[in-house]
Amino acid sequence: MQRLDGGRGAVSWDQSADAWIASQGAHGDFARQYVLDTPMLARVRAFAPRRLLDLGCGEGRFCRRLAGDVEELTGLDPTTTLIARARALGGARFVEGRAERMPFADDSFDMVVSYLTLLDIGEIDAALDEVRRVLRPGGRVLIANLTGFATAANGTCGTWSSRPDGSRDMTVRRYLECRGEMVEWNGVSIENWHRPLSFYMQAFLSRGFTLTHFDEPACTDPAHPKAEAYDNAPYHLMMEWQAR
Ligand SMILES: C[S@@+](CC[C@H](N)C(=O)[O-])C[C@H]1O[C@@H](n2cnc3c(N)ncnc32)[C@H](O)[C@@H]1O
Repeated sequence: MQRLDGGRGAVSWDQSADAWIASQGAHGDFARQYVLDTPMLARVRAFAPRRLLDLGCGEGRFCRRLAGDVEELTGLDPTTTLIARARALGGARFVEGRAERMPFADDSFDMVVSYLTLLDIGEIDAALDEVRRVLRPGGRVLIANLTGFATAANGTCGTWSSRPDGSRDMTVRRYLECRGEMVEWNGVSIENWHRPLSFYMQAFLSRGFTLTHFDEPACTDPAHPKAEAYDNAPYHLMMEWQAR
């Protein structure tokens, strides 16, 4: 299932940009600070790319975390307000544009990072063709995404419910069906794309990528008040694929 540019997702990111910036602050939300940043940084440092693209960089926070580790850092994002904020805060070259049509030459990057952005991209096949094109042979794409069972529970068909002890239950329906669903939190109202894990595995395998890393990371601070609830039903995964 695909959606053309300029649909609900594009409009809603423009309208949600200020709320997004406020929700992330300087250090990012819980998922970024306590689940994903540490293992994502470790994978970048292990591969040590010279030229890295942060695809869907938002307001540029992860690029700024990478400054000092990577010689040539580029952030790409289609949301004008977010790119303007990224440029104001600095730390990388920030370019306005979409994953589906990247304004970069072939073989421009050693690593592409997609940090919680695959679920925001409607034309996913075009975007993954572009990721393959801008990566040099042997380059890697490092991904953090919501799991398919989390996105299947986020929309109108599934549900999340909280227990008094803070743990969360989820109901998953229509798992195998790719679909876009509007989701809302903290003033952010955007379209997220649910796709089952098999969709992504087959999409990368069919483009000749080899899997070099896979994880479902736990909370990095077991003493954090949210740790137990998060680990009970973790909703992020990481994948790293090497281009042929
Ligand atoms: C959930 S935010 C993540 C931002 C950043 N990577 C982070 O982790 O903080 C998703 C980002 O994807 C961007 N985005 C939406 N559609 C996109 C597209 N077609 N191509 C590239 N980025 C897109 C949005 O503008 C937004 O900045």
